Order: sequence, then C-alpha cells, then structure tokens
Amino acid sequence: CGIVGYIGYQDVKEILLRGLEKLEYRGYDSAGIAVLNDEGIHLFKEKGRIADLRNVVDPTVSASIGIGHTRWATHGAPSRVNAHPHQSASGRFTLVHNGVIENYAILKREYLQDVAFRSDTDTEVIVQLVEKFVNDGLSVEEAFRKTLTLLKGSYAIAMIDAENQEVIYVAKNKSPLLVGLGHGFNVVASDAMAMLQVTNQFVELMDKEMVIVTSEDITIKTLNGDIVQRAPYTAELDASDIEKGTYPHYMLKEIDEQPFVMRRIIQKYQDENGQLTIDPQIIQEVLNADRIYIIACGTSYHAGLVGKQLIEKWAKIPVEVHVASEFSYNMPLLSEKPLFIYISQSGETADSRAVLVQTNNLGYKAITITNVPGSTLSREADYTLLLHAGPEIAVASTKAYTAQIAVLAILAVATAKAKGIELDFDLVKELAIVANVMEMLCDAKEEMEKIAREYLAVTRNCFFIGRAVDYYVCLEGALKLKEISYIQAEGFAGGELKHGTIALIEDGTPVIALATQEHVNLSIRGNVKEVVARGANPCIISMRGLETEEDRFVIPAVHPMLTPLVSVVPLQLIAYYAALHRGCDVDKPRNLAKSVTVE
Ligand code: G6P
Repeated sequence: CGIVGYIGYQDVKEILLRGLEKLEYRGYDSAGIAVLNDEGIHLFKEKGRIADLRNVVDPTVSASIGIGHTRWATHGAPSRVNAHPHQSASGRFTLVHNGVIENYAILKREYLQDVAFRSDTDTEVIVQLVEKFVNDGLSVEEAFRKTLTLLKGSYAIAMIDAENQEVIYVAKNKSPLLVGLGHGFNVVASDAMAMLQVTNQFVELMDKEMVIVTSEDITIKTLNGDIVQRAPYTAELDASDIEKGTYPHYMLKEIDEQPFVMRRIIQKYQDENGQLTIDPQIIQEVLNADRIYIIACGTSYHAGLVGKQLIEKWAKIPVEVHVASEFSYNMPLLSEKPLFIYISQSGETADSRAVLVQTNNLGYKAITITNVPGSTLSREADYTLLLHAGPEIAVASTKAYTAQIAVLAILAVATAKAKGIELDFDLVKELAIVANVMEMLCDAKEEMEKIAREYLAVTRNCFFIGRAVDYYVCLEGALKLKEISYIQAEGFAGGELKHGTIALIEDGTPVIALATQEHVNLSIRGNVKEVVARGANPCIISMRGLETEEDRFVIPAVHPMLTPLVSVVPLQLIAYYAALHRGCDVDKPRNLAKSVTVE
C-alpha cells in the first residue's frame, strides 16, 4: 500500500491524487483521499484504480490539508468500505495506514467492545483507539502516542483531526514513510517519487517514531516523547525517468532499456583505469565470509539463483539462495562466518526486511543490492550496491532482473580478482557484448509477437524447461508469463519433468525450452523429444553455436555464464505479447503490487 499527505496552502486534491498515481506500484485494488476544510472532512473512496477514484472526487471541494491511500488488500476484500482512509466512530479522526496490525483483534476486544466498526480492516482499530483515548481525556497527541505504544506489527500512518486544520499526525514502524519539506507546506509519502512534484527535500523516519507535521515545520519524536533532530536529504530522482514517453506500456519501455542499463552499470562500476571495481570494504566482507546467503523474493530471488552460479564458479565461495518469507520463519543452520546479500529492486519488500532485521540482530554483515538509493533495505544494511537501472514502474520486473545479475557478476569477478583467481575473460568486454545482443533481441519484437500469438493465444498452461543456468531463467520466464497473462506457467528443470509433471503434457501444450548451455545441450534436446512424444508443441530458443534446425529462435552468442542476461529477453517479450493478445493490463496485473510492504 502507499500513503500520501499534504498540509500547506495549495489545493490538496490534485497533489494527493498525483502522488497516489506514483504510488500505484504498491497496490491498486482500492484508493481514497480525505481532505479537511472549514466545512469539515470530505472523504472520497473507490474500489479500483486512482483513475476510478478521480471520478468520485468532488471537484468543487477545496482544501489545503489532506491524506490519501492506495491499497493492496491484506485484511478484508478490496471494496469501497475497506478502502482507506478510515474514520473513528464520531467521524472526528481520519487515518490512512500501510502495514499489518497483528494484535488488532486483542485490542478491539480489550478497549473497543462498545464501538461499532464500519470495516473489516485491522486499520480501523487504530483510529478508534485514538478517539477512545481522546474521549477518556487525553490530548490528541497523547492519544495518538498511547495508541502507537499498544500496536504490534507494522505501520506507516497519517491521521487528521476534523477539529484541527493545522496538523497531520504521522508515525512509522517497519513500513516505509518519509516527510517532505517545502516552503509554506510539508508532505508525507511512502516514497520520494510520490511527492517529487512539489519537493525534493525529504527527512527519513526511523521505526517507532512519530511526527507532528504542520505547514511550517515538522517535529519528530520517539514514542517516549523525546524530540529527535534529523537533517533532510535531497532526493536525486529525475521525474522525467518515470514517464513512459511514446511507449504503450512501461514494461515494453523497460525491456528496451536493458542494453542502456548494462552500459550504465559498466560505466558506474568502472574505475579510472577502466577496471570494474567494488568498494574494497565490501570485498573484504566477502573474503571474510565462509558462505554467502542470498535473500530475496520473486524476480529478485531468480536473479539470486543466477548470482549463486557466478559467485561459486568465479569467486569459489559457497552460496545459498533463500526465499525471504521462508528464511525468516525457518532459518537454516548457518555457517560460522555467514555474509548476507539482500537483493531487492525496490529495497522495500517487507519479507526481505524481516530477515535483515534478524540478521542485523545476530550481528551479521549485510549487503543490499537495490535499485533505490535510500530505500529501507539500503539504509539498514551495512553496504549497498546500486543497480542504476532507473525507476522500474511496470509491476513485472525486467530491467532490474538483468541489472541484478550484472551487478552480481561484477561482485563475483572483483572477489575472484581479490583472491588471486585468474579468469580468462574480461567482464567489461563480455557485458558490452551482452548489451549489443540485448539490442538485437529488442529488435526481434515481431518474431516474439508471432511466437506469443502462435503458442499462447488460447492455451490454459505453458511449461518452460531448461537445464543448469537455463533452468533458473525458465523460472523467471514462467513467472513473467503468469504475472501478466494469467496463463498457468511453470519453469522446470528439463530432467525433472519426467518425474511427475510430464503427466500434464497434452496435445498442443506449449513447452518453451532454453538451450544455451553446451554441456547440457544434448540432454535438454532429449527432454524436448520426451514432451513432443506426448503431444507438446515445442518452442526451442537456443544460442548460436548450439542450434539445430528445429529451433524456433537463435540468440547471438555471449559468454556462457552470462546467457541469462540475454535469454530472458525473448521470454520477457513473449510474456508481454501474450498478455497483450489476451487483453490483460500489462503494467498493472490483477492481485499484484510492485512492492509488497507487508509480510
Ligand atoms: C513483488 C513484485 C515482484 C518482485 C517482488 C520482490 O512481489 O510483484 O515483481 O519481484 O515483489 O520485489 P523487490 O522489490 O524486493 O525486488
């Protein structure tokens, strides 16, 4: 979910709506804003996108204080009733919340037996508690603070009081939240992008802090009431990076940007001698470790699997890759000197952050590989390696995946060098070749469209098979396809299919096979024969030098360890066109959010 708030002198509706549009990547199943003027609170909510919310906002209402929310449902179905903002029983207090209140049922039972609730959300408990404590005689600030001390779980909160147009009450624990500073106004937002339209000066908040925001200043306090001083920073984001220009979809734009991103990564990681380098302190941490643990979710997890291969083969350090949500509740036996690498495009994923909090508490060093400088995971880890991919807006991740693999490759090579391991290639040159090949693949859109039409226009399911590193890319190809086209897709290790899943192959079932690895070329082709014998419709994508006549598409050759950087591109494009043919919303697929800020 994403939240915004504004207090100042301008009309607030458009500022909030535009801010929410920038936050839609955090969820978009319902949205709402509340604005306050002399007539009182005006509340507008709608199921669906910000565009739907715009239709119900009364254009004649004018106000200069307000809060807004775009939601990814956790408790309670997406609906207008469950949309934020939520109000207290009398309607005096209005609040938006991102996060999950774990003890809401207990709090409800203990403190709010007599209150008639309006929604099914955990959030409503917060605003009802504030009202209860005010009715008991506390000041609003005291009531807000007391409420916060009772909450267990995660929250980013902004609250307004119908009886006071001068203040927004703000608080944060685990969920991301920033305060932005202006002249004669101040703002609140889940991330800087949402408020770049009015300011680039932001103050970060720490967990368990609250803020009293007025149009003239902000006061940060701990939950004990101690005042905290913190200097603002300048958000270095270019608002024009987040427009899609002439592209019909962000996803297509971001697929096309991949060659540029490769070149930018080379440039950013090159020293004055043209050598790829990594901060020596980071290399020292890697050398100190006896095992690396990569923690990530979704597409970033798939990049981690490829990264494992690169680090193990080149730098000769054992690597384990774990899904964050599993690791945090089922931690494996750790080695003696573990090093943690968190991979997260957004740097905000709550599942990954939960593990980081644990490993920080255990005293282990952590590196975050992220696209967003200043993000939560970046701030809370010891070190950060940036992706330099530019804002990724489409929910389905593309350029961040390839950027993550490129940065992991640089880390692997830099570590190898520090260990004195001789490598017989020049990564700068190899990544430059990758960039050129990516460009050629981006030019093959028509062919990919044809494949999508031919194989995926009507099918119910689809399999991606590969061996060795191709298998990892198959996992990502399948994820792309299911995310945006809703075709049931599965990535499978070529040799494993016969141990069960081959039962699903029927006449015409599409099977996309990757064949970019010489040592398994014959065996993956054998696996293709097995599925063809059972009626499958195969689409082999191979690499130059390994191709045969039956192949549907041949990718120009790159370094054999770097094939994921290029073999994923046709799979991204195929997923894109499949979604397009099926009339799906490519950039904002149903049920998903770009950044999931709840565990
Ligand atoms: C969400 C997105 C995925 C993404 C995952 C991890 O589920 O829909 O596309 O891969 O989060 O996100 P992160 O920002 O941590 O890489």
